[in-house]
Amino acid sequence: MKILKTIAQAEQYIDDIKSQSKAIGFVPTMGALHSGHISLLKRATIENDVVACSIFVNPIQFNNPDDLKNYPRTIDDDIQKLEEIECDILFYPEVKEVYPEPVFDKYNFGQLDKVLEGKFRPGHFNGVAVIVRKLFEIIQPDRAYFGMKDYQQLRIIQTMTENLELPVQIIPCPTLREKNGLAMSSRNVRLTAKERLIAPSIYRILVELKKKATALSVAEAESWALSQLNNFKELKVEYLEIVDSKTLLPVKDWKGSDGVVVCVAVHLGYVRLIDNLIIF
Ligand code: PAJ
Repeated sequence: MKILKTIAQAEQYIDDIKSQSKAIGFVPTMGALHSGHISLLKRATIENDVVACSIFVNPIQFNNPDDLKNYPRTIDDDIQKLEEIECDILFYPEVKEVYPEPVFDKYNFGQLDKVLEGKFRPGHFNGVAVIVRKLFEIIQPDRAYFGMKDYQQLRIIQTMTENLELPVQIIPCPTLREKNGLAMSSRNVRLTAKERLIAPSIYRILVELKKKATALSVAEAESWALSQLNNFKELKVEYLEIVDSKTLLPVKDWKGSDGVVVCVAVHLGYVRLIDNLIIF
């Protein structure tokens, strides 16, 4: 695997690949790689000639300094995992390489970045958009792979790509879960043994909600799920909302949308967990 640390190195290397008309599949990450990330990379391997991964803990998308400080960094393990699946390129820049100057770019996503996560993490998605666009410019991927685990992020990247007519295909990939249903996340390593027993209840409740949802009103379905989550005193619910899968705006009744997804964020101990499930 070729490890590239500077933008100049990466651009030169990528130009060479592009001149051979090879298709590049790209998976941007913040490292601490787990099977969820690996599933995106494996899919990229099947669909492209060359696979590139980036590892960059993007400071401008963190609105909580403690979260940034405590974000797991496991680069040696990550490199080993990438070598095992025969990833071709790792772009692993330092912060000062990516942001030599302060960033002032502002994207307008309308309501998309104001709802759900947007209410609790102001500026987060602007930071995500800035880095993903920068990475697309450097890596010039034909296809880029994003997990449905971060459903709102996926919608924002899809919107940015459409609005700016970026020449990259965005490929949504299913959420990988532990056997007990817990969505895999780099932050899960910070859960205590006791919290790990509680965390799978989040997905279990989403699955039960999906089963019974359309027999109830949207409001009843939401309050049922909320009350189930609130049964666990350790879970502090930030939001649980049933929203339109395109606009991410709350739905009032089941007939108003072609697609509906339930999105949830909870605090469990020191860890903030998000998950979602497509209802239809
Ligand atoms: P990170 O959290 O490292 O996630 C990288 C990619 O892996 C994202 O597309 C995310 O949705 C996907 N992913 C995470 N957990 C997953 C799971 N359990 N199953 C399937 N896919 C999963 O998301 C980011 O980094 C950053 O915001 C980034 C896009 C890299 C920009 O900095």
